[in-house]
Amino acid sequence: MKRTMVNEARNWDQEFNTEILLKGWIRTKRDSKGGFSFLEINDGSCFGNIQIVADKELENYESEILKLFPGSSVSIKGIIVESPGKGQNAEIQAKEIKVYGFCDVNTYPIQKQRLSPEKLREIAHIRPRTNTFGAVTRVRNELIKATHEFYQSKGFLNIHTPIITGNDCEGAGQMFQVTTLDMNRKLKENETVDYADDFFGKKTHLTVSGQLEAETYACALGNVYTFGPTFRAENSNTTRHLSEFWMVEPEMAFADIQDDMDLAEDYLKHLCSSVLNNCAEDMEFFQKRISKTIIEKLQNITENSFERISYTDAVKILVESNKKFEFKPEWGIDLQTEHERYLTEEKFKKPVIIIDYPKNIKAFYMKANDDEKTVAAMDVLVPEIGEIIGGSQREDDFDKLSKRIKEMEIDIDEYWWYLDLRKFGSVPHAGFGLGFERAVQFCTGMANIRDVIPFPRTPRNADF
Ligand code: 4AD
Repeated sequence: MKRTMVNEARNWDQEFNTEILLKGWIRTKRDSKGGFSFLEINDGSCFGNIQIVADKELENYESEILKLFPGSSVSIKGIIVESPGKGQNAEIQAKEIKVYGFCDVNTYPIQKQRLSPEKLREIAHIRPRTNTFGAVTRVRNELIKATHEFYQSKGFLNIHTPIITGNDCEGAGQMFQVTTLDMNRKLKENETVDYADDFFGKKTHLTVSGQLEAETYACALGNVYTFGPTFRAENSNTTRHLSEFWMVEPEMAFADIQDDMDLAEDYLKHLCSSVLNNCAEDMEFFQKRISKTIIEKLQNITENSFERISYTDAVKILVESNKKFEFKPEWGIDLQTEHERYLTEEKFKKPVIIIDYPKNIKAFYMKANDDEKTVAAMDVLVPEIGEIIGGSQREDDFDKLSKRIKEMEIDIDEYWWYLDLRKFGSVPHAGFGLGFERAVQFCTGMANIRDVIPFPRTPRNADF
């Protein structure tokens, strides 16, 4: 018999009083004095459970059903009937319950009282069984789906960029080295490591961004996007930083910074409306338990246009706000989270796109503006999170890019292939990177980025 998922059973739109087969885990169980038990089953297909009524007439009622506790795995053959209970469409009258695995009520880590997020991180292999992590996982999945839908519907080609690379896209030097050299071998006096002996015959790292490689495809095929893991060895212990996170990076040929901002705004709106339309039950849970205004916040994103201001104006607004910031806002210095949050949460009360940053605080590849002080960079800031997207128009002029690479004392020989793009039919092009976990955080209201990725990697933590 074909298995029916709980989601389908809860929204049953076929004939009632037919037999179906369900498989899942027990979430709650109540034994009634009258000789029957109520089991609530969940199988991950939706937030809600379905109720099973198990009668004492079942052959294993005494021997097994009475010994079942939350966490046990079962299959149920039964009749789906219209439910007399409030808030549920259907329930199942069990004819046969098979137990796959019992769950010890005394040692099972998930009990009635809620565990703190910190405690749940210590049992990252068990936490997907909680309501919160089920809901986060379904929303995360919806955002993955919505991302591909969005770019595919616009004709962007999905490309896979390498995870092991020899370049440092952001030039920040915050990279994890990849090597097969023997770390236990002691160097002789005055000996330095010879990377010619390493696996790739050169020094390599885990990528911090797929952008540079994505540019090579955009400059050949038009619009592309890459969606992959990225790695940053920065010692940031905040609620918004991971050492391993996923990034969505579209790259468009024949596009400038305006096109880039338009794409970023459309994409974020699409993400929010997809979650609102397709994860209603999970969002109700987040609104009730995690963030009281989350649904309204996402609706606000879909309904209003984003504010767009220059970095210079942003600094002016911050200075004139007379607000006491821990870091004084000043032209030429990068905006801090407290500044970003002031702009989005207090000043504009909506997402803000900041453009034209000072060139000295941005990466080498960004297109120089005519003022020679700023570059065509853009960051999208959203309430509570701060920066969710970082991007730019790319420098497409061979001479200007070479000069900038040298000025920043970057090894130009490593970038010969990147410079070639500017030699052979160069085109204006632009793109950005969306921090995927920050997007999941934004859409769920989860306070800590470690709780929106299955197995978070952060400084001194790569358990599981
Ligand atoms: O601003 P970033 O560093 O931009 C780039 O890497 C560009 N190469 C992207 C591009 O233009 N194709 O990072 C982009 C986004 C940030 O806005 C932020 O949302 C996220 O990636 N991000 C992080 N997310 C979690 N943990 C970290 N340590 C992050 N660092 C950046």
